[in-house]
Amino acid sequence: MRRWLVSALLLLQAVGLAYSADQKAAGTDGHDKDSTKPEPATETDIAYGAQYAWTPYQSGWELVNEATAEFRKIRTSHHRRSKKQNGLFSALFQYAMKALPSLRVSAPPQEHASPVISGPLLEGVKLLQQSADQNNTDAIYLLAQLNFFGNYSHPRNFKTAFDHYYRLAAHHGNSSAQYMVGMMYATGVGDAVERDQAKALLYHTFAANQGHTRSEMTVAARHLSGIGVPKSCETACNYYKRVADKAMVWFRSGPPGGMTLTPEAYRLSDEFGGVYGEGASVISSGINALKASPNSDAYASIDDVIEYLDLMANKGDFKASFNLGRLYYEGQRGLERNVELARRYFHGVTTKYWRAKDGRIVDQAKPQLEKIASKSAGYIGRMWLRGEGVNQDFKTAQRWFERGIKHGDAQSQWGLGLMHLHGYGVKRNIPRAHELLKASADQDFSLAQVTVGALHLDQGQPEDLKIANSYFEAAVRYGNIEAQYYLAELIHHGIGRDRTCGMAMAYYKNVAERAEPLISSWAEANQAYEDGDLELAFLDYVMAAEQGYEKAQNNVAYLLDPTHSLFALPSWLKRQAPRPTLLHNSALALIYWTRSAIQSNIDSLVKMGDYYLNGVGTEAALDKAAQCYTGASEYFQSAQALYNLGWMHENGVGLTQDFHLAKRYYDQALETNEEAYLPVTLSLLKLRLRSAWNTFTHGRVNSIRDEPSPKKDWSLSEWIANFVQDDTVYYEDTYEEYYDDTIAGSDGEPMGEALDDDDLDGVLESIVIFGLLGAIIWLMYYRAQRQEAHRRAQENAALQGGLPAGGAAAAQPPVGQFPQPDDPNFAQWLAGGVGH
Ligand SMILES: *[C@@H]1O[C@H](CO)[C@@H](O)[C@H](O)[C@H]1NC(C)=O
Ligand SMILES: *[C@@H]1O[C@H](CO)[C@@H](O)[C@H](O)[C@H]1NC(C)=O
Ligand SMILES: *[C@@H]1O[C@H](CO)[C@@H](O)[C@H](O)[C@H]1NC(C)=O
Repeated sequence: MRRWLVSALLLLQAVGLAYSADQKAAGTDGHDKDSTKPEPATETDIAYGAQYAWTPYQSGWELVNEATAEFRKIRTSHHRRSKKQNGLFSALFQYAMKALPSLRVSAPPQEHASPVISGPLLEGVKLLQQSADQNNTDAIYLLAQLNFFGNYSHPRNFKTAFDHYYRLAAHHGNSSAQYMVGMMYATGVGDAVERDQAKALLYHTFAANQGHTRSEMTVAARHLSGIGVPKSCETACNYYKRVADKAMVWFRSGPPGGMTLTPEAYRLSDEFGGVYGEGASVISSGINALKASPNSDAYASIDDVIEYLDLMANKGDFKASFNLGRLYYEGQRGLERNVELARRYFHGVTTKYWRAKDGRIVDQAKPQLEKIASKSAGYIGRMWLRGEGVNQDFKTAQRWFERGIKHGDAQSQWGLGLMHLHGYGVKRNIPRAHELLKASADQDFSLAQVTVGALHLDQGQPEDLKIANSYFEAAVRYGNIEAQYYLAELIHHGIGRDRTCGMAMAYYKNVAERAEPLISSWAEANQAYEDGDLELAFLDYVMAAEQGYEKAQNNVAYLLDPTHSLFALPSWLKRQAPRPTLLHNSALALIYWTRSAIQSNIDSLVKMGDYYLNGVGTEAALDKAAQCYTGASEYFQSAQALYNLGWMHENGVGLTQDFHLAKRYYDQALETNEEAYLPVTLSLLKLRLRSAWNTFTHGRVNSIRDEPSPKKDWSLSEWIANFVQDDTVYYEDTYEEYYDDTIAGSDGEPMGEALDDDDLDGVLESIVIFGLLGAIIWLMYYRAQRQEAHRRAQENAALQGGLPAGGAAAAQPPVGQFPQPDDPNFAQWLAGGVGH
């Protein structure tokens, strides 16, 4: 009996509610730009390879100095490394805040009001303007930045910014300005100029040829994806190589072992489980679904992990201490690198093993302690060697490494090997260095593998080349940036390997993209996003996106996406907080979904399909939508794409209406992604209803059944029996397992058991089923009648008005009795057949 109630509920839902999923409500995101937070000037150092002749005293330089002094008076809010709180309370609080009427929301938009600035900012700007009148490039550049980025809360004015940049670019040949002009042409950001990819490429190429790194990368990305130019692997490769070369110089300029690379690049949507949410996006479903494990933050935030480990460490668990040390040493998103803390945790382990006063090994050490302690020693040595959180001290480093080496720690071997190789605090001793490094490399320590590989490479014998190659390939498995560079070089020059442009380019691109702090605005972008300054975040992400970062492209599109909302408020709660006008740009969103899709992001490909389907940012093109969905479903099995294809077949939108195919797609969607169970099941139910109706009324659509349906008049009871039979299979299979307990036991009242009498069961079953089906059939009949009447009325009206009758609606073959998808009634019908 129970299951009949479940099915009854579901049927009602299927008819009434499932459609709301099909209706794409364009939500504006709830973010409201409060104010532009002033940013302290943190220029990223860009290695200009240029012949920039800096004249120390341009006229007007003293005015610029005065202006900067004025700006310094402006209180700059310090960056807080605020972490987003995901707790229930903060979410509720946010909702509450959003729901409250606020003055700001109701205030009229003041985009066209002339910007009011005052105080030091005004003074500074005046000074800069005077200086700029004397052709001072610094002044012009600063003015442009203020207008573009809105530093010190200066109102953004993209047209003015463009004029300043353009002046610098055209009259002074300044490559930083050329880069910005190119960027603005490429994106048309802020409507300062018309989007023009040819001009964009022109300016970027100017800048790139003067050695502007970001432009070099942009040009490379354009040649790679064929944006505004024909695709050319060779050209892309050459530009990427130039960037990678600089990246390598920068990387090696760091402490022994190279710069620390903490990746900043991430997709904003990943925090919500992908652009379609948890379980619906390729990124968080199927094989990509994160499994709950202590190391994944699928279900536990990094804070929880830290808290847990800390608890264990305090209880004396040395493994927990070590892991904490490593987490803090490496840092990751959501956990800033903290070498001080790391060292403290490592010391927590080592003092358990080496006595503090004389450094002797404790008697009776616990099992495993020896291994963990020597690993910790390796880390501590590394910090002394590199001067991380301590003043660099080779002697101390050596002492720790020697401790670690006694127990065969690979990191210690690498560290000491490096010291011998370069003569850090010890005499240079290549054979000893090689011996140590090789031992470390053979333990699969990637830093040592690269160094050993490089040593072999220097020998230059064919045999050595082979060995070097294999070491590099081993290190590349760990994403070692230097190994990637070496491999790129070997492949690019065809040394010991075949020349393949694609491979070389891919490695160079990787190397270039890894050097985030050198070449990109990722850190600034993320900071702005965390501070809630969506516009600034958008601008910074756009720059990274133009440089070819897939993740940035995804972020830009995500920020611009009109069809999602950052806080999914129910619509009756939503006060239409104005989205910053800068972020109203669905055409640009589509561009970036496309670019992201070109770089094999499947969710982006599905998004593209949505845009074409609904005509967002472009004209609706159903065939393109179908292509996108098909592409997304073919190899990578996006459940969302399969579902959409099913929907298109079901409704005959863009594809031929075919219930049978629709069902197949829905089934595949279900197979691909079990998390999509409920929506897909509801859709399947709806589909079954329609299909059955179609069969019942001899509609022309291919109904769900494999054998060609016999031309036989079905009696109502037959039809119902058939229908019911199909569905029972479904519930018995899985649905019960899933929801049985919750429904029956939710309030402790056993719904089924009391009635679990066979006879009664049968009777009630029939009553419920027949009643329900009767209601549904009546409703549908009624709707169809109304539709028919409406159509006739229209026809009559048209005839009387002397217009040719029919039109689009009449031209179409009658498909069942359901309204056509392009019929205005269609949406209404979808919205619910029950309420009317
Ligand atoms: C203005 O802000 C941008 C973006 O944060 C930054 O890159 C730039 O250096 C800042 N310029 C000045 C003059 O502060
Ligand atoms: C500034 O540069 C423009 C064009 O290069 C020139 O015509 C003008 O005379 C210059 N102004 C000053 C004050 O040097
Ligand atoms: C462009 O001009 C600005 C302002 O004078 C300067 O800071 C910057 O270094 C210049 N860029 C290059 C590549 O010369």
